[in-house]
Amino acid sequence: MKALVLAGGKGTRLRPLTHTSAKQLVPVANKPVLFYGLEAIRAAGITSVGIVVGDTGAEVRDAVGDGSSFGLDVTYIAQHAPLGLAHCVLIAREFLTDAPFVMYLGDNFLVDGIADLVDSFRKADYDAQILLTKVAEPQFYGVAELGPNGEILRLEEKPEHPRSDLAIVGVYTFSPAIHEAVRAITPSARGELEITDAIEWLIARGHRVHSHFVSGYWKDTGRLQDILECNRIVLEMINGAVCGAVDGRSEIAGNVVIEPGASVEGSVIRGPAVTGADARVRNSYIGPYTSIGDSCLVQDSEVEYAIVLKDSTIKGVSRLTYSLIGRNVEVTRAEGIPNTHQLMVGDHSRVQVRA
Ligand code: DAU
Repeated sequence: MKALVLAGGKGTRLRPLTHTSAKQLVPVANKPVLFYGLEAIRAAGITSVGIVVGDTGAEVRDAVGDGSSFGLDVTYIAQHAPLGLAHCVLIAREFLTDAPFVMYLGDNFLVDGIADLVDSFRKADYDAQILLTKVAEPQFYGVAELGPNGEILRLEEKPEHPRSDLAIVGVYTFSPAIHEAVRAITPSARGELEITDAIEWLIARGHRVHSHFVSGYWKDTGRLQDILECNRIVLEMINGAVCGAVDGRSEIAGNVVIEPGASVEGSVIRGPAVTGADARVRNSYIGPYTSIGDSCLVQDSEVEYAIVLKDSTIKGVSRLTYSLIGRNVEVTRAEGIPNTHQLMVGDHSRVQVRA
């Protein structure tokens, strides 16, 4: 069995971070979300992985390399434009050959991994398996309508008026029958070749399509609140490890990871939290559910329920919460008169200030 990981696309909901970097590489507990997916694929016993990449392909290649550090053999498949999930299957035809495969959306996160799904696919003779879960806002997802015996009646992509609250999770398994389906369908109203249409095509022709419910926690990390929540869930599972230097005036409480080379002086860190390699925390408070990236400086500040990417500086700021801060960003106190907020903020940014 092979795996097809989708790491192209636009990432419009996490702008401006995704203007310059891949949304699949936004870190959760200081590790790119994509890496959790690759580890789950390996844990399910799959080693041959095709990764579909788009504009941010160079960055994904830099991060994943040939896959050997994950125990994987990775082939990159370039997609010239994000023309849809089924388009990814279409362009991966040569890599996939006639092998059954799992398709994994690179921004999805499943705490329990995919081993059960892959196992049940290996044992049964389905042509497709989809994963479902109940969500509060189904209009943001692919939505499934099931019949009385659990059979799939209908699949709709981001419907304005959802017929159920069952969202399609971004992990699917397919037999080679899917190749005929992705060739047969046409682009949807939003101009994409939809995998939901391809699966409906299979159902309409009598192929066996099965749906499972996700047992554990699942998140599509495409939106701010989702990536922060995902960070919280992963941090709740970490074991504390202090490898960096903590001075006698500091207090570390709960599960806190302090990576090698990091230093904490005159500060309080209340876990769960991680502080990346070579980061410096001075005279500051780091609260629960916070991930501070490598080589960041947090000084005279309070940060809680936040993700700060590497090489950023937070200085003299109290208190920063519910925030996602990109790479190489400076958030500092404005000094002097007039008493104003002074901003230089990228396109599509969001800033909320307490006036
Ligand atoms: O997360 C689950 C949802 O994922 C499902 O409920 C939807 O049915 C499914 O369409 C998908 O919706 P999203 O709006 O989240 O899809 P997104 O555009 O974010 O793409 C998912 C991943 O696939 C992401 O890592 C980018 C990548 N991608 C996407 C497209 C459209 C590609 O590599 N190429 C593409 O052409």
